[in-house]
Amino acid sequence: MNAKNSKSKSLPIGIFDSGIGGLTVVRAIRRLLPCEDIIYLGDTARVPYGTKSPETVIQFAREDARFLLRQRIKAIVVACNTVSAWALPELERICKVPVFGVIEPGVSSALQRTKNYRIGVIGTNATINSRSYTAAIMAQVKKAKVFAKACPLLVPLVEEGWINHKVTLEVLSIYLKPLLNKNIDTLVLGCTHYPLLKSEIKKITGTEIALVDSAQSCAESVKVKLENRGLLHPSTDRKGNVTVYVTDAPEHFTRLADRFLGSALKTAWKAEL
Ligand code: DGL
Repeated sequence: MNAKNSKSKSLPIGIFDSGIGGLTVVRAIRRLLPCEDIIYLGDTARVPYGTKSPETVIQFAREDARFLLRQRIKAIVVACNTVSAWALPELERICKVPVFGVIEPGVSSALQRTKNYRIGVIGTNATINSRSYTAAIMAQVKKAKVFAKACPLLVPLVEEGWINHKVTLEVLSIYLKPLLNKNIDTLVLGCTHYPLLKSEIKKITGTEIALVDSAQSCAESVKVKLENRGLLHPSTDRKGNVTVYVTDAPEHFTRLADRFLGSALKTAWKAEL
């Protein structure tokens, strides 16, 4: 290993999302890689990305990644499914560090779990319109049938804290019934916010349908990829720090963060992109 690589190992992992939802990815990564430092950027000034055009998502993603690169990081994790769907090739082109998205790990996990190769995918309008999940699944298994459904009402419901609310259950049921009618045996939760709805989704899908949590699959894949590149933090007995930046309303972000992060967040700093 060269000296440059040995220094890089101790650098933080940069993670970004359109807003607060990417904290579900931070949570999963912290559980698997507790020694790593993390710098998180949530673009709260411009959220949501899921309703924007591909050009806008790519432009925002570039600016988010450049902010993280200025903080000196060893890798970028794109926690946002919408950005992973549209901007990964562009980010790989402009970043000098490895860039990891959420789609490929979610797809691998779905293909490991499906038996009948009938897979449902839910996400924002932009993610579903990109057909990224469908294309990535079909590229690996031609005979697979993918049933994709945009669920734009779920992000605001989760942010409102309406998790076990009858309205949310009703909305979920309307979105998911058509997928259940297609006899899927696996459902990919292709959005940062959906892991919070897992128990509610299970109430509709039952226990027979495997749910793929894209945050969890992403964390597992980040661990393997950093290990393969010799980039895991050299210490095994330290507790990594999480530093959070947002582009707007840090106090509001801090108040909502624990729901996504699983623990309280003391401070979010204001970022200038
Ligand atoms: N983070 C987005 C995603 O995972 C959801 C929120 C948004 O639309 O920006 O697709």
